[in-house]
Amino acid sequence: MNNFTFQNPVKILFGKGQIAKISDQLPADSKILLTYGGGSIFKNGIYDQVKEAVKGFQILEFGGIEANPKYETLMKAVAICKEEKIDFLLAVGGGSVIDGTKFIAAAVCFDEADPWHILAKHAKITKALPLGTVLTLPATGSEMNAGSVVSRIETQEKLAFGSPLVMPQFSVLDPEVIFSLPDRQVANGVVDAFVHVMEQYLTYPVNAPLQDRMAEGILHTLIEEGPKVLANRTDYDSAANFMWSATMALNGLIAVGVPQDWGTHMIGHELTAYHGIDHAQTLAIVLPGMMDLKRQSKEAKILQYGERIWGITAGTTDERIDSAIAKTVEFFELMGIKTKLPDYGVPAETIAKIADRFEQRGFKVGEHADIGPEEITEILQSRL
Ligand code: NZQ
Ligand code: ZN
Repeated sequence: MNNFTFQNPVKILFGKGQIAKISDQLPADSKILLTYGGGSIFKNGIYDQVKEAVKGFQILEFGGIEANPKYETLMKAVAICKEEKIDFLLAVGGGSVIDGTKFIAAAVCFDEADPWHILAKHAKITKALPLGTVLTLPATGSEMNAGSVVSRIETQEKLAFGSPLVMPQFSVLDPEVIFSLPDRQVANGVVDAFVHVMEQYLTYPVNAPLQDRMAEGILHTLIEEGPKVLANRTDYDSAANFMWSATMALNGLIAVGVPQDWGTHMIGHELTAYHGIDHAQTLAIVLPGMMDLKRQSKEAKILQYGERIWGITAGTTDERIDSAIAKTVEFFELMGIKTKLPDYGVPAETIAKIADRFEQRGFKVGEHADIGPEEITEILQSRL
């Protein structure tokens, strides 16, 4: 096992009715900006629950944070925070609202240069506004991690940053928020969480059996509970199991002491940047191609995954790897997510544009940092 340092300070309030407890978590006398997305919180009653819970606090609101949050929109909230001297941010939404709010938190306190440098140049963040979240869509793990992904319309870029300073002080995880999710977002959430586990698990063995079994435990739970949530949105127990799985998939715990890949995410982000495809859909396209191309360097872990997750024990090494890839695709499709580029109308020319971007950036991705423009071209061509 590799050396590691681990700290996760996010307080989780999990379960039915926990939104009502927010007021105990908010700093007294603070001026709060409540951030939200396109308005789902008004239809499903989450807005009313939050407003009831924060009665007595000074609250301003900022709505309209898009899926794949836009830098241009977030900078409007940054201006409001400065003008109104906001001292706490309360994000009510999915990964996009939470990620957007993390960027707002950092950008408000970033006076050294253009805030875009936080994303484009990984400029160091030395302070940020404190924030809390009410999660409405289990998927990204953003509610319990330090990451944020922001898109810029002007340049068609989608870039990430991370800082412990933007980790939420608290996150409310009430599984009942899932009851109002459309099928597409349930599918996205399950598949995003699944691929988060794969990025931290499907690399090469470093003799870390606990991390492996925790990762496999999350995969099994998603495979069991995901279809149940899809079939019956008001099954509270399945909703709770799905929600906690998604948080555990990317709160840092299964990543400790093991190599990580993240190549599928890096390539997937470009598909969203150019074509607006949902984040999880991009992962379902890329991952099978990544597994196929990296069948040698990932061999031991793909075989372990095939055997422990899908019960694949017979056949040659290549046959077992093919079956593991086929089972993965089958699961994504069972959840309702298609896995080929033409399913989303992506033309072959996009492949060269994406490869070119990686060429310009000049770094390679993957656990061995050996996936560059040529490999990316190969992966995406296999998904045509
Ligand atoms: O905007 P509203 O009206 O709220 O509607 C949203 C949005 O249209 C809707 N929704 C959310 N909760 C709902 C609901 N509809 C009905 N009932 C509810 N309870 O769902 C739609 C999608 O929301 P979004 O927040 O975009 O989805 P998700 O949570 O999948 O977040 C995706 C974003 O997170 C980034 C992705 O790249 C993408 O930009 N990621 C963030 C990560 C992180 N911070 O660690 C890691 C991930 O790998 C990912 O990259
Ligand atoms: Zn993801």
